[in-house]
Amino acid sequence: MNFIDQEEQVIHILKDKLPSQAKYHIMTYGCQMNEHDSEKISWILEQVGFHATPDPQEADLILLNTCSIRHSAEDKVYGKLGELKHQKKQRDLTIAVCGCMMQREESRNKVLEKCKHVDIIFGTNNIHKLPALLLDHYETEKRTIDIDESFQSIDDKLLANRYYPYKSFVNIMYGCNNFCSYCIVPYTRGREVSRPSQDILNEVRALVASGVLEITLLGQNVNSYTPALENGYSFTHLIYDLAKIQGLKRIRFMTSHPKDISDDLLMAFKDLDSLCNFLHLPVQAGSNSVLRKMNRRYSREDYMRKIDKVKNLVPDIALCTDIMVGFPEESEDDFQDTLDLVKYVQYDSAFTFLYSPREGTPAANNIQQIPKEIKQDRFNRLTETLYPIFEKKNKALVGKTLEVLVEDHSKHDTSMLTGRTESFKLTHFRGGDRLIGKILPIKITSANSFNLEGEFIGS
Ligand code: SAH
Ligand code: SF4
Ligand code: F3S
Repeated sequence: MNFIDQEEQVIHILKDKLPSQAKYHIMTYGCQMNEHDSEKISWILEQVGFHATPDPQEADLILLNTCSIRHSAEDKVYGKLGELKHQKKQRDLTIAVCGCMMQREESRNKVLEKCKHVDIIFGTNNIHKLPALLLDHYETEKRTIDIDESFQSIDDKLLANRYYPYKSFVNIMYGCNNFCSYCIVPYTRGREVSRPSQDILNEVRALVASGVLEITLLGQNVNSYTPALENGYSFTHLIYDLAKIQGLKRIRFMTSHPKDISDDLLMAFKDLDSLCNFLHLPVQAGSNSVLRKMNRRYSREDYMRKIDKVKNLVPDIALCTDIMVGFPEESEDDFQDTLDLVKYVQYDSAFTFLYSPREGTPAANNIQQIPKEIKQDRFNRLTETLYPIFEKKNKALVGKTLEVLVEDHSKHDTSMLTGRTESFKLTHFRGGDRLIGKILPIKITSANSFNLEGEFIGS
C-alpha cells in the first residue's frame, strides 16, 4: 500500500479543516539528508492541500527542519523560533518543528518548555505521520508531539517534491553505526538501515524517465550499504547497476567513510563514465592520536594510501573533505599534522569546522577542552593553508573545456547561469533560460578558490 492509500482518510478529513488556499513554508537546517527530508515533507503537504510560499510572512504553516550537529546549528533554530513568536501574535500561524534536534531529548525539552508557541513536534523517523499530526492539531487546537525513538518505522517509499528537475537526492540508507566520539548523528538518526537495492534502482529509473540527469546517493556512510536479504550485495554493486540505467548521466554519493571505502569502489571511478570524478572523503584530522580519540578507526597513513590509490587510478579526480579543529586534547603538533596532511592531499574543496561539544557524546565529557581562541586561531591557519590550494587547483583548469550541468540563474547577476562540473566545481557563465537543465561544454576563462568562470562554446 502506498502513502496516499494508507493516509486517505486522514488526508480527506484534513483537507476540510485547512484554511482556504493554505500556504506552507519550510526552513531547512543541516545536511543533504535534511534537505531531502524537506522535499518529502513538501510533497506530503501538497498531497494534503497546502501550497508552497517562498514568503514566510504569508504562510499559514511554518515548519523548521532542524539540525543538531553543532551548537551553532541549534542556536540558529532558537533564534528563528524567537522571531516566529512575534509573528504568531499577529496572525493565525501554525508552527511545526522536526528534524534532528527533536530526536534529542535535551533540545526537545528546551523547545517544549521555552517555546510554547510551537504547535507540532515530530522527529526524523515519522515524517509520514505529518497529516495525522496536523489533523490532531487542527481538531484539538493543542500541541501535538510524536517522536519515534525506535528508528524502525521510516517510510522509505515516500515521494518527494524535488527542488531541481534535473538532479535529485536518493536515500540509500538511514542512520549510522560508527559513533565517532564527537558526533550526535547516531543518536538523532539511529542505527544503519539500508534500502533494498531494487527500490533504489526503481526510484532512479523513474527519476531518469522524468528528466533527471544526475543523482546523489545519500547515506552517512555509503560504503557500509548492506541491504538485508541480499547476500553480498555491496555499495559498489549498486553503483555498477545504476550505471547501466540509460539516460543517467551523472552519479554522485555522499558521504564515504575512509575506513570502509573499498578498492572496488575506487576502481569504479576509473571504469564508469557516469560516476563523477569527485570524491568527498572526510578526514576530520591529520594526527593519529586525535583520529584514535575520535574513534575514526583509520590512521593518517591509511587515509593517504587511499588518496594515492584513487589519484593513480583517476588523475583528474577532485577531492573534498571535512576537517575539524580543536578536538579535546588536540596539541599544536597534532594540528601541524592536519596542516601537513592537507598540503599532501591537495584538496579541491573542504568543509572546515571548530569542534563543538555535543552533550551525550563521549568527547563532550573530556575535561581537556580546547579554549575558543585557540580553536579559532587553528581554524584561521587551516583556511589560510587550504584556500591557496583550492585556488591553484581551480586555476589549473583555465583554458580547459569542462561539461557543466546548468542549474539556475546566478543569484547575483541574472544574465549569468550557474552549474557544476563533473568535479563539482561551481561554474558561472553568460547564457539564457533555454540552457538550464542541459549538460554543456564550458571553456574555463578564470578561477578563484571557490568557483570557475567560463564561456559556453556551443550555440
Ligand atoms: N557522515 C558524515 C558526516 C556527517 S556530519 C561522515 O562521517 O563523513 C558532517 C561533518 O560535521 C562531519 O564530517 C564533521 O566534520 C562535522 N562534525 C560532526 N560533529 C561535529 C562536532 N561535534 N563539532 C564540529 N563538527 C562536527
Ligand atoms: Fe557522525 Fe562518524 Fe557517523 Fe559520520 S560516520 S555520521 S561523523 S558518527
Ligand atoms: Fe544532518 Fe544535522 Fe542531522 S548534519 S543528520 S541534519 S544533525
